[in-house]
Amino acid sequence: MISFLYSASVQGIDACLIDVEIDISSGLPVFSIVGLPDTSVKESRDRVVSAIKNSGFDFPTKKITVNLAPADIKKEGGAFDLPISLGILASSGIIEKKSLQNFCAIGELSLDGKLRPVKGILPIVLSLHKFGITQVIVPEKNKNEACVAKDIEIYPFTDLKDVIQFLKKETVVEPYKQDSISFQNGSTKTSIDFSDIKGQLFAKRAAEVACAGGHNMIMVGPPGSGKTMIAKRIPTILPSMSFEESVETTKIWSVSGLVPAGESLITDRPFRSPHHTTSSVALIGGGSYPKPGEVSLAHNGVLFLDELTEFRRDVLEVLRQPLEDKIVTVSRAKNTLSFPASFMLIASMNPCPCGNYGSDKECTCNPYQVKRYRSKISGPLMDRIDIQVEVPALKIDEITSTQTVTNETSQQIKERVIKARNIQYERFKGKNIYCNAQMGPKEIKKYCVLEEKAGLMLHNAIEKLGFSARAYDRILKVARTIADLAGSQIIQQNHIAEAIKYRNLDKYN
Ligand SMILES: Nc1ncnc2c1ncn2[C@@H]1O[C@H](COP(=O)(O)OP(=O)(O)OP(=O)(O)O)[C@@H](O)[C@H]1O
Ligand SMILES: [Mg+2]
Ligand SMILES: [Zn+2]
Repeated sequence: MISFLYSASVQGIDACLIDVEIDISSGLPVFSIVGLPDTSVKESRDRVVSAIKNSGFDFPTKKITVNLAPADIKKEGGAFDLPISLGILASSGIIEKKSLQNFCAIGELSLDGKLRPVKGILPIVLSLHKFGITQVIVPEKNKNEACVAKDIEIYPFTDLKDVIQFLKKETVVEPYKQDSISFQNGSTKTSIDFSDIKGQLFAKRAAEVACAGGHNMIMVGPPGSGKTMIAKRIPTILPSMSFEESVETTKIWSVSGLVPAGESLITDRPFRSPHHTTSSVALIGGGSYPKPGEVSLAHNGVLFLDELTEFRRDVLEVLRQPLEDKIVTVSRAKNTLSFPASFMLIASMNPCPCGNYGSDKECTCNPYQVKRYRSKISGPLMDRIDIQVEVPALKIDEITSTQTVTNETSQQIKERVIKARNIQYERFKGKNIYCNAQMGPKEIKKYCVLEEKAGLMLHNAIEKLGFSARAYDRILKVARTIADLAGSQIIQQNHIAEAIKYRNLDKYN
């Protein structure tokens, strides 16, 4: 007897519908699964047999064939355990075949019949609507993530046994609804705040400018000066995520199995800080079952590369493409998948190999070593970093100062950032540009209008300090942001002066 139900499989950050067909016929007892890779088949078979038996049902000693179609879609993981088990029970007459027909079922089973959560529930439930499916059975632990999809009825269960009782109509289960789907804009739960940072007014201001214009930033300073501390607090001064941004980011986290248990949506902007030994695949994504990399996990948030000079050059090279395109494309044999990767890059490095260059402590490096160290990250990557800022060691009295109350809070800074962002939003409406950092040559020409004195100052700076043409564009973009923070239409002399200060590393290249 043949039975039939739906399941789904993640593809990138979308999902496709999988038809699960189960045929039980008389013949030698064989249990075969078609359409899954070999290793998954064996594992799934073993779990399904044990789960059915341990839930108190007989496992049919007949010829069982399971087909997961389409066969050419690469499927992964145990999410088909539940639909396969339900199909077997329907084909052997334990549950009615037609009770299954409207459902999509997803879930991995443990040997005792418990339903385990699976990765990628959010993209799956969000795509069911377009397949005309309105009811889905999911593991209990996935229920909050699943119920973000408003138009789908979610039936969460902890045990295979409970699912069977429900389908046999022995129990009544109402679809799960979360009363207040916890999307509170800006409901940041983190306890870190900009007011924790003593001194470093220049670096803090640079961070504000970076956030206001969406500029990438690198901080250069000796060990312990607070670079990591500043970087970690950057998400707290960025505008809160919109609902759409939150759903996009959560889809990526869902596919990676990183949505915290019990949560529905990621509402705080991500802060990702991969170690410098990370591989290019871990950073950018990919693999035989393509997974999002750190650049995508940082989507709509911050990617922090601490100790930038320690990263392998080839690893840093792969960053160029997502920095440019804001998306990572992974080509497979038959199709291409893409993962969004729109992030703000924040990097840090020491000023020299020993770390003490420019500080009160003695630097043991010679000028050649310092130059070579700094040039490690020159070139195409540096070209995409608008703001370069020095973070010197704190002075003794700054360290011992207890006047943290006078420090500005993240909220205060964030309000200015939002104001400046709103100006940019209006400026670039309909242009597919959202912030000053994304301006191309045409926009720079149109929107970076300098007052006369400012133009003169920039001219002089280029002549005296030897900035390149690229640095010139960057100074203009950053000056545009500084003017926006000041609510000024035209770029004034003091805006240019400040922007020039953020080209610290150019001196060494
Ligand atoms: N400006 C500061 N205000 C308050 N505390 C600070 C400041 N700078 C450093 N600290 C203290 O020093 C510790 C180290 O700072 P942090 O890790 O940010 O330094 P870093 O510049 O990233 O150093 P490294 O180059 O070694 O990575 C912090 O955890 C904090 O306790
Ligand atoms: Mg650090
Ligand atoms: Zn040194």
